[in-house]
Amino acid sequence: MLTEEEKTEIEEHLAALPVRRSGCIDALNVVQRHRRWVSDESVRDIAAFLGMTPDEVDSVATFYSLIFRRPVGRHAILLCDSASCWIMGQENLLDLLEKRLGIGLGQTTEDDRFTLLSVACLGACDRAPALMIDDDLYGPVGAETLDGILERYE
Ligand code: FES
Repeated sequence: MLTEEEKTEIEEHLAALPVRRSGCIDALNVVQRHRRWVSDESVRDIAAFLGMTPDEVDSVATFYSLIFRRPVGRHAILLCDSASCWIMGQENLLDLLEKRLGIGLGQTTEDDRFTLLSVACLGACDRAPALMIDDDLYGPVGAETLDGILERYE
């Protein structure tokens, strides 16, 4: 069930929109901000709240790689795997991350601190290889900067 707080926040977004379904991505963002990810139950609840079908909400949720449909840790590391970053050493950066965190892509550290995910271009090709942690964009990231970046997240 959506909480009253979530409903209120979604309604604030809806106030500026012509039809309720236009607020689908806003509703997904609200729920993810409160719960870290969007479960099947949340998809059904959002659909009911907006007058949509669960499939319609799910198609929006799965279109955007920044909406998480599986549980994630306290911080999501989104590693760009598109062309510029790949050319500039994305594979080495992935290797570093896997060694530092002890996890592979799609996995979460045992302490629930980080989830490591790959995404398409982050729009920071001039800073390749790039990654994003929560809402923070970093690049270029290498062995000399990675530890300092990770230390900022508890
Ligand atoms: S290719 Fe990595 S940010 Fe664009």
